[in-house]
Amino acid sequence: MAATDWQPARLRAARALTPDIRLLEIEPATPGAPAPPGSHLGVAVMIGERPDTRSYSLLDSGADGLYRIAVKRLPDSRGGSAYMHGLEPGARLSISGPRNHFGLTPGRPGYLLVAGGIGITPLHAMALALHQAGARFRLLYAARTRRDLALADGLRARIGDRLETFTDDEGGRIDLAAAVADLAPGGEAYLCGPYGMMEAGRRAWAESGRPAQGLRFETFGTGGRHATEAFTVRIPRLSREIVVPRHQTMLEALEAAGIAMIHDCRRGECGLCTVKILDADGTVDHRDVFFSEAQKAANAQLCTCVSRVVGGGITIDTADRAG
Ligand code: FES
Repeated sequence: MAATDWQPARLRAARALTPDIRLLEIEPATPGAPAPPGSHLGVAVMIGERPDTRSYSLLDSGADGLYRIAVKRLPDSRGGSAYMHGLEPGARLSISGPRNHFGLTPGRPGYLLVAGGIGITPLHAMALALHQAGARFRLLYAARTRRDLALADGLRARIGDRLETFTDDEGGRIDLAAAVADLAPGGEAYLCGPYGMMEAGRRAWAESGRPAQGLRFETFGTGGRHATEAFTVRIPRLSREIVVPRHQTMLEALEAAGIAMIHDCRRGECGLCTVKILDADGTVDHRDVFFSEAQKAANAQLCTCVSRVVGGGITIDTADRAG
């Protein structure tokens, strides 16, 4: 994002939606035009002593001049969620955007929205927009427990039975194949959730034979097949060995060690942060949605912003980086 995009803002209000999800209302110094659904806001944060940025999906268009976001405090977070949870109303912020990489195509005969956990945020805005437009849609929203369905009550009040909820502790599970089959021909599906849900959605969509461009997704790049643990990265070309602690991503640990890296999304979507894998004595837990299943199985590269290693270390090359 260009430096000129940033503008001052103020945290107008904040409240807990669940014990670990916080709703924040941000008032920009200069209100912009209403943001299309799927848009996200950049927020400058401090991770320890280091300035950084995070992006959060907007819950609605912000037509009243306020940007609303919901932030989940993650135990394995890179520190951005902890920072956002520590802000007091009145706090001065620096924001950029809104920008949109997850746009909603208008005029489709039907829409399937599928949200897992905090992945509800962009789909919340989409559901409100579709409802307002009188479109035909369903929003399937899954979480671990009823208490984790942070935005369900407010949504139900606005979109009624177009919202269907599922919770793990009650044995609820979204039948993605059935949901895709139920979608009108020419309809589109929008998914946002953890890795497993995205992969299941991708499979269900592919098996349905629908055109690939009808499936859109956004991830929040957390959680993989394995538990998060510390691991070591070796870079022979630079004669460096760097430990990635549990609470940091590999990208952050490499940056903190002075390795020149490039990145954009930091969510495993754009592929800019990838490096070559030379050797791995542990298992690579590919947590991105950028590489295909075949590419992940080949294990030749990984997205450093989300993917990790368990049970050992990894040897990489950063030959295409300046560092
Ligand atoms: S920064 Fe986009 S995939 Fe890692």
